[in-house]
Amino acid sequence: MRIDVITLFPEVFGPLHSSIPARAQDKGLLELHLHWLREFGAGPHHQVDDTPFGGGPGMVMTCGPIFDCLDTIPDSPERLVIYPTPQGKPFLQQDAIELASQSHLVFICGHYEGVDQRVRDTLVDREYSIGDYVLSSGELSSMVIADAVIRLIPGVIKPESYQQDSFFKKGLDHPHYTKPADFRGLQVPEVLLSGHHKNIEKWREERAIETTRKVRPDLL
Ligand SMILES: C[S@@+](CC[C@H](N)C(=O)[O-])C[C@H]1O[C@@H](n2cnc3c(N)ncnc32)[C@H](O)[C@@H]1O
Repeated sequence: MRIDVITLFPEVFGPLHSSIPARAQDKGLLELHLHWLREFGAGPHHQVDDTPFGGGPGMVMTCGPIFDCLDTIPDSPERLVIYPTPQGKPFLQQDAIELASQSHLVFICGHYEGVDQRVRDTLVDREYSIGDYVLSSGELSSMVIADAVIRLIPGVIKPESYQQDSFFKKGLDHPHYTKPADFRGLQVPEVLLSGHHKNIEKWREERAIETTRKVRPDLL
């Protein structure tokens, strides 16, 4: 997969250079390109924003730099342009699974009041919200979406790992324990030490349902 990111802050993309996204790049399964929008800004100050028509507070990201930057990114029918925004469809695990089968994603990171509506109307294929709250800019939301997608690219991690994660099936994951079995008097549930696979499976399923019912009954 190829991922391009159009951003005013390429320096904040550290998380995509470490852990699983770094491994995906090392294995040749992901090609990441960060584009500094400021380089496409207008005039001596490389301006990328302006005041809103109709008045009001805040600045709006102008069309010119975003259109120009996107023109430098290879285009094909497979290219999918994503604009994370609070006004988008809620981003779910199902969306991550679907995006993981794409070959080329481009993220446009908004800032200020967001981008000029004409960018959204003409360049953007998908709009996703990562939750009902407002972040300062689209770098974090782009990274959240990209990270959720990257770990699902075939070959990046073992399918058994993500297939047991929360949201993959219905509901949330079960509790996890590791060594030592007794830590400062805190015991690991007996059943997990029994070696009885059927009972362990049953216990995990029951705990997963219990947690889901308690915190996310809407998922059941
Ligand atoms: C300050 S926000 C703009 C908020 C916008 N005026 C609104 O109320 O919908 C700046 C940028 O942060 C990103 N952003 C903020 N909250 C987000 C969310 N919940 N999901 C996805 N992206 C978000 C978007 O890219 C947005 O353009």
